[in-house]
Amino acid sequence: MSKIRLAVLFGGISGEHEVSCLSAASILKNLDPARYEVLPVGVSKTGQWYLQPAWNGRALAVIENPSQEVSVHPGRGFSVGSHRLVLDAVFPITHGVQGEDGKIQGLLECAGVPYAGAGVLASALGMDKAYAKLIWEAQGLPVVPSVVVDEKELQTDSERAAAYQRAVQTLGSPLFVKPSNSGSSVGVTKVCSLDEFGPALKAAFAVDRRVLIETAIDAREIEVAVLGGADARAYGPGEVVPTHEFYDYEAKYTDPDGADLVIPAVLEAAVSARVLELAVKAYQALGTTGFARVDFFVGKASKEIWINEINTLPGFTTISMFPRMAMHGGMTYPQVLDAIVDQALLK
Ligand SMILES: Nc1ncnc2c1ncn2[C@@H]1O[C@H](COP(=O)(O)OP(=O)(O)O)[C@@H](O)[C@H]1O
Ligand SMILES: [Mg+2]
Repeated sequence: MSKIRLAVLFGGISGEHEVSCLSAASILKNLDPARYEVLPVGVSKTGQWYLQPAWNGRALAVIENPSQEVSVHPGRGFSVGSHRLVLDAVFPITHGVQGEDGKIQGLLECAGVPYAGAGVLASALGMDKAYAKLIWEAQGLPVVPSVVVDEKELQTDSERAAAYQRAVQTLGSPLFVKPSNSGSSVGVTKVCSLDEFGPALKAAFAVDRRVLIETAIDAREIEVAVLGGADARAYGPGEVVPTHEFYDYEAKYTDPDGADLVIPAVLEAAVSARVLELAVKAYQALGTTGFARVDFFVGKASKEIWINEINTLPGFTTISMFPRMAMHGGMTYPQVLDAIVDQALLK
């Protein structure tokens, strides 16, 4: 049988460019060379695509060699210079803006090449917290109480003060303020007073015009890996225990001791089972296929469960939650990759 020609697409314009390089290096290391012919394709920080040299086992960085620039041809796949790039599938592992929000997925769709992971709509919904929550709420799934505000409505100090009072009345205090369409905790702030509200809004509006104001939950952060389509299965749960006040950008990326990852999460069996069940429901409610990580809050005292968000291209390094939870469920890392690519080829 001939090998599967698989492009691994990594890098990208988002703040998670470097994380994507780490995820891709883990994937390249674990793809079975007997099954795949792998073509690494790097997306530069300004969005150009370049075919990369065969991976040499070292840390990955996108090499921008003009002679290796990849062009997309709607309906006819890709080329490098005058050579067609013959591919069976693409595995995008481009976290964040443009790579995870349906845009690259739309481009792959138009190119007519099968790709791994969630499709256009599920990717776009997964990136936009307000829309994802609307759908989950409509399906009776538990989400953190919130309101959505638009930058246009909150131009003056008095408009912001009134919005703060309304939010505290309906949602309580403290609050969380966060951009709807974002990730990596960028622009996310815990707000305990009116004084903190203005700067929090400013930070969030710098990322997106629409912002969520949520009840701050005193909760444990529980995550679940979901893999599959109509037959989707949940793995985990795991727990992220941030050493910071919350799981902020520094805790995620710059502080090596920013969080402990515990797999499996130590939870009562009934809570654990419910979280796994809700993860599949949240995943399927958005029409997700491929794989995703669904993140929850579980009340420290109440044990109440809320779905926080879904990540359709979660971190994929060997120490990342997604592959580790799947491995805890009995799969090997290469088997996780095979399952994801097999699904892409079925599409
Ligand atoms: N409503 C909330 N209650 C408590 N903590 C929250 C809340 N919303 C966000 N957080 C904290 O902020 C972090 C980042 O927020 P999240 O909604 O997961 O956005 P992102 O997509 O940036 O990861 C969470 O992991 C958690 O630590
Ligand atoms: Mg998060």
